[in-house]
Amino acid sequence: MASPSAAVRKEAADIRVQPINGFIGAEISGIDLARPLSEGQFKIVHDALVRYEVIVMRDQDITIDQQMAFGKLFGELSIHPFSPNLADKPEVIILDYSKDNPPALTDIWHADETFREAPPMATILRAKVVPEIGGDTLFSSMSAAYRGLSERMKQHIHGMETLHDFKPWRPLFGANDRPKLRKLEDDFPNPWHPVVAVHPVSGRRILYVNQQFCVRIKDLKTDESDTLLAFLYRQATVPEYQLRVKWRPNTLVMWDNRSVLHYAAHDYYPARRTMERVTVKGQRPKGVEGPYSPDTIEANGAVKPAIAEGTRPGPKRAFDRY
Ligand code: SIN
Repeated sequence: MASPSAAVRKEAADIRVQPINGFIGAEISGIDLARPLSEGQFKIVHDALVRYEVIVMRDQDITIDQQMAFGKLFGELSIHPFSPNLADKPEVIILDYSKDNPPALTDIWHADETFREAPPMATILRAKVVPEIGGDTLFSSMSAAYRGLSERMKQHIHGMETLHDFKPWRPLFGANDRPKLRKLEDDFPNPWHPVVAVHPVSGRRILYVNQQFCVRIKDLKTDESDTLLAFLYRQATVPEYQLRVKWRPNTLVMWDNRSVLHYAAHDYYPARRTMERVTVKGQRPKGVEGPYSPDTIEANGAVKPAIAEGTRPGPKRAFDRY
């Protein structure tokens, strides 16, 4: 019989982690999520998630319980405060859009639930029904976006905070739902999150703003805040920071909700698209402590970005100075 270390080596050899784009995304093959993952397999998947920020696993013909079990390896699953969920499994949201239920609210760059003090650390989405054309999900690395800013802009936004609110959902509460809305406001008071967050595992700095939930930057005038936020939001649209996932039935995608934004392309209506979603609880985002100092992630020995920091001034192009 093979010794444990040989078994672990064999598992590792069977798994392939193939980066997809320069700054974001990896496809992982050689893992079947219908079977429990060993510690060694989990470590490979976890490390790939932290390093590549979005992992894509094809042909995962699994049950929702198996998807939940996979999520639980990363931590406790979280429950969305008001999105309709499965009655007997409140951690599960089924996104089932079709002619009579047009897709809503997700065609905007966002991270999930940043209106909470502690948003989910990750989201796991698995495709059940995929439209013949369209329905891709786009992701954008906000750690790459941060690295792409000039040193002067990094100094400018250092220490800033933004208010996050569940604003797109507000219109869904009608006049009769006011008490429900007030209760939600009490249960989920708007948090101030840092504009630049530090990834708790990799130590990378992240441009932590998103158009769906950010309201304003603390201590700026409205016009200043709107102008700066519009500029910061725009960083998510830089193609070099992005990954575009084309779904197939049983494709499972997990993204690091601490460091990427995503955007669901609503170009498939009236066709049907059905996804099963679970999220893993996260921590309150933390900013960079103390006065501004340039990022020393590599000197700290944290996980290196896909392309080494210091080999270029910013991640967008290899030869740009700014
Ligand atoms: C979401 O925004 O959480 C859903 C993304 C998708 O449906 O592709």
